[in-house]
Amino acid sequence: YGDFNQKIDYVFKVVLIGDSAVGKSQLLARFARNEFSLESKATIGVEFQTKTLAIDQKTVKAQIWDTAGQERYRAVTSAYYRGAVGAMLVYDMTKRQSFDHMARWLEELRGHADKNIVIMLIGNKCDMGSLRAVPTEDAKEFAEIENLCFMETSALEATNVESAFMTVLTEIY
Ligand code: GTP
Ligand code: MG
Repeated sequence: YGDFNQKIDYVFKVVLIGDSAVGKSQLLARFARNEFSLESKATIGVEFQTKTLAIDQKTVKAQIWDTAGQERYRAVTSAYYRGAVGAMLVYDMTKRQSFDHMARWLEELRGHADKNIVIMLIGNKCDMGSLRAVPTEDAKEFAEIENLCFMETSALEATNVESAFMTVLTEIY
């Protein structure tokens, strides 16, 4: 029966949020399919991908939702957050503004999602360290104050991507 009739013990919905072009879709492509594209187009509306994995000998289906960072392409917000048990709050570590907007994204998230949602703050594009605009310490401090997990990632180089998603999924579990 193997993979065919695999019994799913849990389905966890996780949402990706953050400004346009921070790399949400590429983080998802890296995690779900181990793919990456430099010519990624802006997301329109909502997309999702699933990945089935094992946690503590249970089969968990991660259902990762991805939406547009651009306001004009965003779909109905409440539907996006409904049922989410995890969230990835993504900024681009080479774009200060995308980090400064984290407070707003967090506010929207907390306004719509379950209060027990597990939240990971992600500083993406760490492969471009020489262009860093957000010191690790600033992000750590924000994460501590807001009670979030925090990691720096690169979807391009596959740095910490698996680890970031697995941390959230394990925490949910
Ligand atoms: P919206 O869909 O508009 O909200 O944007 P997004 O957050 O989904 O960004 P997307 O994943 O489409 O990536 C935007 C651009 O950044 C693309 O050119 C990607 O190739 C690039 N990018 C994404 N992740 C990384 C990364 O880790 N490193 C580098 N160098 N580029 C990245
Ligand atoms: Mg996108």
